[in-house]
Amino acid sequence: MKILVTGGCGYIGSHTATELLEAGHEVIIVDNFSNSSPEVVDNIKEITGKDFEFYPINLLDEENFENVFKENFIDAVIHFAALKAVGESVEKPLEYYNNNIGSTLVLFRLMKKYNVNNLVFSSSATVYGNPITCPITEEFTLSVTNPYGRTKLIIEDMLRDICKVDKSLNVAILRYFNPVGAHKSGKIGENPKGIPNNLMPYITKVATGELKELNVFGDDYETHDGTGVRDYIHVIDLAKGHLKSLEKLNENPGLVTYNLGTGKGYSVFDLVNTFSRINGIDIPYKIVGRRPGDIAECYSDPTKANKELGWSAKYGIEDMCKDSWNFYRGK
Ligand code: UD1
Repeated sequence: MKILVTGGCGYIGSHTATELLEAGHEVIIVDNFSNSSPEVVDNIKEITGKDFEFYPINLLDEENFENVFKENFIDAVIHFAALKAVGESVEKPLEYYNNNIGSTLVLFRLMKKYNVNNLVFSSSATVYGNPITCPITEEFTLSVTNPYGRTKLIIEDMLRDICKVDKSLNVAILRYFNPVGAHKSGKIGENPKGIPNNLMPYITKVATGELKELNVFGDDYETHDGTGVRDYIHVIDLAKGHLKSLEKLNENPGLVTYNLGTGKGYSVFDLVNTFSRINGIDIPYKIVGRRPGDIAECYSDPTKANKELGWSAKYGIEDMCKDSWNFYRGK
């Protein structure tokens, strides 16, 4: 298949593009490097030994984006391109709505115009808001607590509306839990610009000494050690979930939604202790107040993806910690 990957230089996009190329698919990447860099293009080529089309453009630039559709016969789209920092989205809601929703509208218009009917959409467990219990199934009530999350939910809602009337569309909505880890080669991984918001990138920056210590946001949650519990999933497992969804799109016409998680919850201390043990590096930390908007625990029930896609996460928390560090220490 010839697959357009928007945001293909980003963290999850680059790993998915790599898996697609290794599985023998043709890939076209569109990325404007808003949270990535041109070297990712070369690194994907180096890992896979394969070439692909690359367009350094913003999806909002409809004229140039349309050329991608004119110049290629696209079978399917995997749509990652989006701004994704929760705190920033609260500060700059308009920017988030304009970028995430606006660019998706351009994409959907072009897909319709050029008769591209297969789509995998990158959503997030953030659409479950404050879940009443765990594990979380796809049937849980949806709600969001910040503009970033709202952009994901709005796009999901748009897709549900569009698919009701356009029966030619095949769409998989994938709700990721907490992606961590990196490619085994150490050539691609998560390298956020500025001070990271998420736990694993913060830990890796403490490990190099770039940041002095980790702030643990609360140790008084109702969890096994008082710190927040999340469903960390290796980015390679996540990437493979995209391949499986893509392969099944034609078997499951219409719209399908899957949780991509391991089904296991680990606390902040679990992650810090495993990182220290497996990599032999001490991670200094201090306990600070809870981060506004955080919840005690959030982990998936991945049964639906296990059964319907024949997919399950293979890597454990030790691999996640080892591979995150293997990538980041090479920076
Ligand atoms: C966050 C976003 C979520 C987004 C996801 C992407 C918030 C509130 N939620 O999820 O919308 O989809 O990232 O991966 O930002 N922690 C610390 N110290 C830190 C950073 C985090 O103690 O410096 C703790 C948090 O309190 C939480 C856990 O680590 O218990 C994981 O945090 P994080 O990596 O930011 O992910 P989420 O909050 O689950």
